[in-house]
Amino acid sequence: MKKTSKNFFIETWGCQMNEEDSEKLSGMLRKTGYKRTTVKEFADLIIFNTCCVRENAELKVYGNLGALKKQKEKNPDLIIAVCGCMMQQEGMAEAIVKKFPFVDIVFGTHNAYKFLEYLNRVKQEGKSVVEVQDKEDGIVEGLPIDRESDVKAFVTIMYGCNNFCTYCIVPYVRGRERSRKLEDIKKEIEDLIAKGYKEITLLGQNVNSYGKDLDPKITFAELLREIDKIEGLERVKFMTSHPKDLTQDVIDAIAECKTLCEYIHLPVQSGSTRLLKKMNRSYTKEQYLDLVQRIRKAIPNVAISTDIIVGFPGETDEDFEETLSLAREVQYDSAFTFIYSRRKGTPADEMEDQIDDAVKHDRFNRLVEVINGSAAKKNKEYEGRIEEVLIEGLSKNDETKLMGRTRTGKLVNFAGDGSNIGKLVNVKITKANSFSLIGEQV
Ligand code: 5AD
Ligand code: SF4
Repeated sequence: MKKTSKNFFIETWGCQMNEEDSEKLSGMLRKTGYKRTTVKEFADLIIFNTCCVRENAELKVYGNLGALKKQKEKNPDLIIAVCGCMMQQEGMAEAIVKKFPFVDIVFGTHNAYKFLEYLNRVKQEGKSVVEVQDKEDGIVEGLPIDRESDVKAFVTIMYGCNNFCTYCIVPYVRGRERSRKLEDIKKEIEDLIAKGYKEITLLGQNVNSYGKDLDPKITFAELLREIDKIEGLERVKFMTSHPKDLTQDVIDAIAECKTLCEYIHLPVQSGSTRLLKKMNRSYTKEQYLDLVQRIRKAIPNVAISTDIIVGFPGETDEDFEETLSLAREVQYDSAFTFIYSRRKGTPADEMEDQIDDAVKHDRFNRLVEVINGSAAKKNKEYEGRIEEVLIEGLSKNDETKLMGRTRTGKLVNFAGDGSNIGKLVNVKITKANSFSLIGEQV
């Protein structure tokens, strides 16, 4: 493709997987001479990378697309592309071009690597391109990546999900589980370290089933131990773990390997065994609590976060009380809390006992209160401690300060030298707020 000096704007909704896909799209564009702008109005190319895990993510995309109509009328050369999970849903791509005929390119998650080809076609032929593939093309290695941070990076270790939780659309839009080869993962991490990156987060919808599809097979714990050996690596985190697959050898690996951080994201979704069964989660409340206990025993000062859904079909007051009691017992450091959202094509959407909106909102507020309570309490435990902090950048609210994170993922603000960004320093925690810590470098 010919070099241009045009600007692109990209907006991403959804999870880190989508963020990483956007970093790849940006990487491809930069290679052809495009520059990134954060001002939509200055862009010659606008990309929306969409999410469909909950309805409100979709509504945001519709709103944002509608608002582009005027910009396109003013600048007919503007190219608009829409991609991501939402486009993988049956009939969605056609619905988008019908509703927003000014959209030029529509593609899905499985063919994102062909984006430059589609862009070229639109430029040459002046016609819109709509291409979504049902089937994944295997794993495409070697795409350029334009990363958001110079300090920490996400590295995808596997794509897709085989779990089919009854509320979730992800297995339908991201396909079946596919693991990247160990050598490819190691090579990517080594290249990142050579560029000065300090922290790597391994990504997958269910990282604990890594390697089951590879020949020869390799377990996630073995992968972690291999990665831990890489020279120069400081910190490794990973997400997301499915409680049914988090094995004792993964817990042991975290306890024993120096780069593996004391942090686990362990979505519980509900505290009611009855609902967990209806959700197809394959564990009971007791098994989850036992797992948490084993984690806490093996890894002192570990931080645990979770995802919880309220208002799943058939959720009674008693079921919800089970969720509250579980949250109180676990004492999460943080949690992503969600109101159940009906997704077409999933089994839960067909269930008859859908919950009233007002009940869902009331339960949501009560749950958030419990979570905020434990989060504040956990933060308070850091007061007076000296913590290793990786400096990520300047503080968002106060640019005279630095912002970094502990190994457990706690956000710390403290005064310091801006030239230290990217370094690991020791910080004494002087004050805990509900969602962040304040400290002094020592
Ligand atoms: N409604 C609400 N939350 C959902 N999640 C997934 N599907 C839905 C849905 N239909 C949540 C789960 C998952 C997180 C990424 O999103 O908690 O862990
Ligand atoms: Fe969705 Fe369940 Fe797979 Fe997570 S494990 S992506 S919640 S189906």
